[in-house]
Amino acid sequence: MSAYIINGGRRLNGSLNVQGSKNSVLPILAATVLVKGKCVIHNCPLLSDTECTVKILKSLGCGVRREGNTITVDATVVSCSYIPEDLMREMRSSIVFLGAIVGRMGEATMCAPGGCEIGLRPIDLHLYAVKRLGVNVIESHGKIICKVAEKLKGDKITLSFPSVGATENALLLSVTAKGTTTIVNAAREPEITDLCNFLNSCGARISGAGESIITVEGVDRLHGTEHTVICDRIVASTYLVAGAVTRGDIELKNTEPVYLNSVLPLLEEAGCSVNVRCKSIRVKCPMGLRRIDKIITQPYPGFPTDSQALFTTLTSVARGTSVIVENIFESRFKHVPELVRMGARIRTEGRVAVVEGVNSLYGADVLSPDLRGGAALVVAGLCAEGVTTVGNVGFIDRGYENLSQNLCVLNGDIRLSISGEGKN
Ligand code: EPZ
Repeated sequence: MSAYIINGGRRLNGSLNVQGSKNSVLPILAATVLVKGKCVIHNCPLLSDTECTVKILKSLGCGVRREGNTITVDATVVSCSYIPEDLMREMRSSIVFLGAIVGRMGEATMCAPGGCEIGLRPIDLHLYAVKRLGVNVIESHGKIICKVAEKLKGDKITLSFPSVGATENALLLSVTAKGTTTIVNAAREPEITDLCNFLNSCGARISGAGESIITVEGVDRLHGTEHTVICDRIVASTYLVAGAVTRGDIELKNTEPVYLNSVLPLLEEAGCSVNVRCKSIRVKCPMGLRRIDKIITQPYPGFPTDSQALFTTLTSVARGTSVIVENIFESRFKHVPELVRMGARIRTEGRVAVVEGVNSLYGADVLSPDLRGGAALVVAGLCAEGVTTVGNVGFIDRGYENLSQNLCVLNGDIRLSISGEGKN
């Protein structure tokens, strides 16, 4: 099994450019299906999830070309409205193709999506949203079969929870629906705004992106465009925490500090000095970390659930006791038993974790339970005494481009061991 081998104890220092956003590029690539023409997307991160999305686009009949971090999609012709089960099961965001395919083809057939097992992750809000716009939905034998009854017609969609994915599907379906759609209690994540900016540059008429109420005036057709994907705020928070737990001094460039308004103050509360300049963030933490009173995950602009595992690692080596409340997903503490193997003192009860900081962690063989949990274990390995191996790297590669190379640029001692290679 491939694994990251980490020799802990080095202070990270240096600077790094942050990759493009996974959670933005995936819905944007899905949205290209709505365009009868070519879209050129820049700053696409090199991830297994991006590869999977490209496979889905090709299976629908789109032409796709990649040059470095630029992907060109030609969806002049889309010849299929079915997504193969194996591709659907590979990741959660395959479900966002639902709105795009129904919007383009008037019908779609797929199974329930896969993705990290961090909770129940139902799709009831997605199906509610598409039904509101005039789509008949049949769920049978594990398949979701959608067909536009007569014509897609704009309507009011009130989400009981500001789901990111359901908001994306409502947007993708309503941009070419007849009339006006109002999405109430919409997700406000920067990735939603990026998707809206992409669609508007294709000729859509969306207003209110980033707010709780989004209004979409349907248009007849969308045209090709060129778009640059935003930076990945969760990847940025990963490197910042890595700098903090190793008492390092790192600077991230090509970031959007405002996206981390709920994260940076917690780094300061933990004793880091945080300097923000335009598109860069510098974090220094020479004196070690202290406890954070309470970390509560919430929809944006609240503290991101995707950074929760990283802050579990951070608080596990901070002086004092911290409390973490995971409000978004039911079972997103699967990294905790692995951290406890490394000497952390963490108790969990339902959605609450009580983290008693220890002086230091020690190296161990651990397994990534999911994408962000895996990243949190890599960061733990960087500050632990001795050698840590982090297995199930496939989870981590879903969201991090060149993780080990980047950490080496920052003076970390980490390498990827491909199956069968030893620790040494
Ligand atoms: C997106 O997932 C992100 N994934 C997740 O990041 C992120 O954790 C999540 O938003 C929350 O910020 C992508 O963008 C690809 P949701 P999504 O729909 O769209 C419940 C990562 O690590 N819900 O906002 O699946 C759901 O169960 C990943 O990069 C319903 O009940 O999240 C959850 O408890 C992991 N019914 C909550 O809402 C629905 O129909 C938030 O889910 C949909 C969601």
